[in-house]
Amino acid sequence: MPESNSVKRMFAGIANKYDRANHILSGFVDFYWRNVLLKHAKLLNPKIVADLATGSGDVAICLKKGLQEHTIVNGYDFCEPMLIEARDKAKASLDTANILFRFGDCLDLPIDDNSVDLITISFGFRNLEDRKLGLQEFKRILKPGGQLMILEFTQPYPWFAPIYYKYLQNVLPKIAKIVTGNSDAYDYLAESIQEFPNKNELKIEIEEQGFLEVDFHPLTLSIVALHKATKPNL
Ligand SMILES: C[S@@+](CC[C@H](N)C(=O)[O-])C[C@H]1O[C@@H](n2cnc3c(N)ncnc32)[C@H](O)[C@@H]1O
Repeated sequence: MPESNSVKRMFAGIANKYDRANHILSGFVDFYWRNVLLKHAKLLNPKIVADLATGSGDVAICLKKGLQEHTIVNGYDFCEPMLIEARDKAKASLDTANILFRFGDCLDLPIDDNSVDLITISFGFRNLEDRKLGLQEFKRILKPGGQLMILEFTQPYPWFAPIYYKYLQNVLPKIAKIVTGNSDAYDYLAESIQEFPNKNELKIEIEEQGFLEVDFHPLTLSIVALHKATKPNL
């Protein structure tokens, strides 16, 4: 699993170019992935949402706009330059100006026990130095019966895997270098996706930390998956 300080440095280095790179390198499919997450979140009608590893805040902003007006959505990240991007973006619209973007390490969150209805973490879980500790921390802050949603890269369908991994290893870092001036972060992306557990393995990791009703939804030829899990009622 990656080391926290190097992850933080890497995102600090690309923070002001992250959104543009994200849209271009995903072929603008990132909007669709966030909307799938929103669709699942709407079913819960949560009162309090914590978007972890919120980065430049696109998920928190999408949830704040799409969920009921009274829903409180807060974003947490341990990389200040990413949080600065998030705050600037959220301030630009009245609907999202009251999202609180706070410093928060997923392994030691500044959030009370049993206080959150829904945790979302999108493209951040793969970067945690200790996923087991992360899942324990998520369970601590969720209310009993609360839900965890992890949107993350995963292994594509086998027939598509050779093409996809060639794109990740050979094409993506070159485009990323043009867009961000930094290809290291995107070399890391390719490596970290290949090393990350597949959909079933991740389901088991989540279950092993005591979550119930764990299921997953593959998206876009299964290059991404949404895992959902519930904290048991006391
Ligand atoms: C790929 S970005 C994803 C940002 C955003 N969620 C999105 O979907 O665009 C990953 C983010 O995870 C954050 N991150 C990684 N490890 C973290 C940790 N232990 N605690 C908090 N944030 C973390 C990074 O700082 C970075 O902003």
